[in-house]
Amino acid sequence: MNNRILITGALGQLGKFFIDSLINQGNYVLATDIKNSNDLNCDFEIFDVHDLKKGDELIKKYKINQVYNFAAILSAKGEINPAKTWDLNNAGFFNIVDICLKNKINKIFWPSSIAVFGKNSNLNFASIDEPMCPETIYGASKLACEKAMYYYNFKNIIDIRSLRFPGIVSNSKPGGGTTDYVVDMLFSAAKKKDFTCFLKNDTVLPMMHINDAVDASIMLMSIDKKNISINSPYNISSFETSPSKWRDTINSFGYELKIDYEVDFRQDIADSWPKKVDDSLLRKDIDWIPKFNEKETALDILKSI
Ligand code: SER
Repeated sequence: MNNRILITGALGQLGKFFIDSLINQGNYVLATDIKNSNDLNCDFEIFDVHDLKKGDELIKKYKINQVYNFAAILSAKGEINPAKTWDLNNAGFFNIVDICLKNKINKIFWPSSIAVFGKNSNLNFASIDEPMCPETIYGASKLACEKAMYYYNFKNIIDIRSLRFPGIVSNSKPGGGTTDYVVDMLFSAAKKKDFTCFLKNDTVLPMMHINDAVDASIMLMSIDKKNISINSPYNISSFETSPSKWRDTINSFGYELKIDYEVDFRQDIADSWPKKVDDSLLRKDIDWIPKFNEKETALDILKSI
């Protein structure tokens, strides 16, 4: 594909998987984050998305022509410091748009989240344009940026593409999300440890394998703009699960994972998110279907831990 891509927040849950896939497809990738790292298979620079000057320098120095903007504070961690979360998530969005506009970069990928929905949405099967009153500052910041994204696309100012990610299942430990239990439970099973779950056993949420999330995102970035039928993010998901169902799925491969429950504030967050989302428009527009169902996801990630 031969794009020159800058990734912000590259040390988060998504970064390294996007980096590997983008490089495999022939792109150059510059990873950036606020902390240093030698663990990634690409060039790396320290970059705080508040720093417009540094962003501008990096884009020029590395001749960047696309940005994947992942810098964000997630849902559960966000509740600890709402002002910081609002600031980072929104400043990150707007600063990257500004830096891109200044350097005539016309394509950004920016992930939104199922956190934009709220109890006034149809949580049994959330369509793309439900009424939305998010109950977390993370969800509110994502929704605010979704509105800005709509504006920039509608006005043809810059091409921003986005998916509302559900819980992402990978072998990289997430930090501060409400769906983190899916990954933590796999690590407990692999290490033969009991697991204490912070959500109730029957709390259903949409999930997907990281590879499906990466593939769909890169496909969305690759298709002709005329095939994108909306100015705001698409819903996306692969399967729905709950802590007890996920345990049963894991144990169907011979593990003996036991869980007990110590429900905390994250239950209220999960209760305000959809159990299932309608992602039919994405599947049609980019001609995509997930490769991994629930069992295949669990088995594949367990094998890699
Ligand atoms: N996985 C995220 C979280 O739990 C949702 O986008 O915060």
